[in-house]
Amino acid sequence: MSDFEHRRLAGVAGQLSSLADLPPKPQSTRATSQRPNGRDSTGPNGLVRAADQQDSAADGPVAVYSVAGPTADEGAKKPRKPVRLPTLQRMKRDGTRITAVTCYDATFARLVDEAGIDVVLVGDSLGNVVQGQDSTLPVTLDDILYHSRAVRRGLRRAHLVADMPFMTYHSPEVALPNAARLMAEGGAHGVKLEGGVEVAATISRLVSCGIPVMAHIGLTPQSVHAMGGHRVQGRGNEARTRLLADALAVEAAGAYAVVLEGIPARLAGELTEALRIPTIGIGAGAGCDGQILVLYDMLGLNPEFTPKFLKRFGELGAATLTALRAYGDEVREGSFPGVDHAYNDPTTELEIAALKALP
Ligand code: KIV
Repeated sequence: MSDFEHRRLAGVAGQLSSLADLPPKPQSTRATSQRPNGRDSTGPNGLVRAADQQDSAADGPVAVYSVAGPTADEGAKKPRKPVRLPTLQRMKRDGTRITAVTCYDATFARLVDEAGIDVVLVGDSLGNVVQGQDSTLPVTLDDILYHSRAVRRGLRRAHLVADMPFMTYHSPEVALPNAARLMAEGGAHGVKLEGGVEVAATISRLVSCGIPVMAHIGLTPQSVHAMGGHRVQGRGNEARTRLLADALAVEAAGAYAVVLEGIPARLAGELTEALRIPTIGIGAGAGCDGQILVLYDMLGLNPEFTPKFLKRFGELGAATLTALRAYGDEVREGSFPGVDHAYNDPTTELEIAALKALP
C-alpha cells in the first residue's frame, strides 16, 4: 500500500462496519464571465478581470478567470441565516444532524455553501490532497491562512473552521497568537486542534480570549508517528477510558464541538450521549451529531483512496479526466476554439465595408 493510500484512516475499513450497530438518530457554476452591472469584479490580486480587454459591446465584458462571487441565482435567493455556535448547539439539542466538509478554495467554498453544508473546515488534510504530501505534518500556519482567506471569500452561510497545524499549539503561549491570526487574517469563525487531556489548558486559554475551539480526538493524524500509523483508536477498556477522559476534558475546557475520528461506532455513540457539545464524526459511525468528510475524497477526486468509512458522492475524478481528454482532442484536431468561442471586431468590419463602398 502506498503512503498516499495510508494517509488518514487506512485501517478503519472493515473494522468499524461490524460496530455500526447504533440506532439512527432522529432525522431531521461556476461564476459567469459577466459581472453584475456596475460592480467592479477585479479581485484583490488583480487577476479577476481585465476591463481593458473588453472586446466590443456585442461581446460584453471579458473576464480573464471566473470568480467566486454569487451567481444570479444565489443573488435572487433569500439570505440564509449564518451558522453560528448557538446554531450548532441547537442542532445537537434538536437531533438535527450537522453536515461538514473540508474545503480549500473559493470556488468549491461557494458550491459547498450553496449546497447548504453547515460547517466548512480548512483542514490540514490540504497537505495530502492539495500539496501531495504523505502526511499533514508539513502544513504550515501560512498554508492554512492562505486557504482560509480563499474559502472565506466563497462563504455566505457556513461556519468556517481553520485547522491549527502541527506544532502551532503545543503550549497556550504558542497557540494564542497563531489562533488569533487564523481568526483575524484567515477570517475563521473558530479553530480546530488535535488532542484531549493534554491540550485542555490550551483550549481554555484560547476560549478565554474569545477564540472558539473545535477539538479533535481519536485518530489524530498529526500524531501519526506516535500512534504507529493511522490506526483506529479507543479499542479495549483502557483506550476507551482514555478517550472518554479526553472527550470530557475538551468539553470542560470550553470546546464548542469535537471531531471524533477513527473510533468504533459504539464508543462514538456513547461519547455523543455523554457530551453536551456536538460531536462530528469521520470514520466514527452514525451515532455522532454530525459528519465530516474530506471534500476531494467524497467527490471522487482521489478514486484510488478507498477506505471503508468513505462514501464517494460523486465521480469528479473520472468526469475531470473525460473533460480534459475531450479538450486535448479538440485542441489537437483544431475544432476548439470554433467561431462560437472567438471574438470578432465589428469596428474593423464596418471600416472595411465603408472602404469597399467608396467609388
Ligand atoms: O484536516 C482534516 O481534513 C480533518 C478532518 C476532520 C477531516 O481534520
